[in-house]
Amino acid sequence: MKAAVYDRTGGPEVLRYADVPDPVAGPGDVLVGVEAVSIEGGDTLSRAGGEMGTAPHIVGYQCAGTVVAVGSEVGGFAVGDRVVTVGLDGSHAELRAVPTPFCWAVPDGLSTEEAACVPVPFGTADDCLFEFGRLQAGETALVHAGASGVGIAAVQLAARAGARVLATASSDDKLARLAALGLDDGINYAATDFVAEVRRLTDGRGADVIVDSVGGTTLQGSLRALAYRGRCITVGDAGRDALEQLDVSTLRPNNQSLTGYFLGAELFLSPRPHAVIAGHLADVAAGRLSVVIDRRFALSEAAAAHAYIESRQAFGRVLLVP
Ligand SMILES: NC(=O)c1ccc[n+]([C@@H]2O[C@H](COP(=O)([O-])OP(=O)(O)OC[C@H]3O[C@@H](n4cnc5c(N)ncnc54)[C@H](OP(=O)(O)O)[C@@H]3O)[C@@H](O)[C@H]2O)c1
Repeated sequence: MKAAVYDRTGGPEVLRYADVPDPVAGPGDVLVGVEAVSIEGGDTLSRAGGEMGTAPHIVGYQCAGTVVAVGSEVGGFAVGDRVVTVGLDGSHAELRAVPTPFCWAVPDGLSTEEAACVPVPFGTADDCLFEFGRLQAGETALVHAGASGVGIAAVQLAARAGARVLATASSDDKLARLAALGLDDGINYAATDFVAEVRRLTDGRGADVIVDSVGGTTLQGSLRALAYRGRCITVGDAGRDALEQLDVSTLRPNNQSLTGYFLGAELFLSPRPHAVIAGHLADVAAGRLSVVIDRRFALSEAAAAHAYIESRQAFGRVLLVP
């Protein structure tokens, strides 16, 4: 099969389009003919400096397509089914083998491309806001990088739960587009001090729940922007400047918490998030939640697609089409 691979981590230019051996479906796996790859934030970070299990390495968490073979122990999926899949790597390819607990049927009425964009961002955003953040109606949520995959999902989920939604982004244009998805107040964190702005917008209270996928100095600011009893969930390092030391001294006097979150662990250890994500797929199919696709590149142009994402122009997802 063809795949976008790299032999060493680095900039987008390390990606090359190559022939590699087809993956083989194990007894509990489905083999999927990939039709749409959603490039996740973690994919660009993995390519830049993540672990490489193999060389050449096929990066990528999430893709969707049609089942072309099933393992001997697989029930519930058959050849011809449309599915969306999640794994630690292997999405940037024409074929992917995945165990069925990391596979969802694509509901009727939902395009394969849209389905490709759902599980990781929506599952992550939902867990950060509710399972770990315990967000309640009437509370204030702050979503960092609101125009990102996780951000667009979190803005919508927080808004429909009846929370007041604040979000940051690096441009006013991105913030303007988030208004249609449920954003109440946008903060351009390239132009203003977001901590002061959160305090101003909340009459000094701060945010009850913060979903922080940016990390580094932004995460330090998030701890300063929490309300009394506020909950900050650290979920990523999209800012690429992880701090060596985080000052947590403001948490204790204010009964606040900082929680780490990793969707992969939840999916491995419990059937709960699989069902939550199936609900998101049904909601997107029914128009109750939206997926935003920014643009498409051919799989052979994966390097250009990664470079475009890292230029920070994208609003929502960038797809690769094999
Ligand atoms: N722990 C988990 O289970 C889990 C699950 C999903 C995602 N994540 C992590 O969450 C983060 C976001 O994922 P995503 O899929 O939402 O990402 P994404 O769609 O690629 O968006 C990343 C966002 O980060 C912001 N950003 C800030 N500094 C940046 C920089 N130096 N370079 C590029 N972008 C920068 C950009 O927004 P602005 O330009 O507006 O700042 C961009 O929209 C990633 O670190 C990912 O690994 C973790």
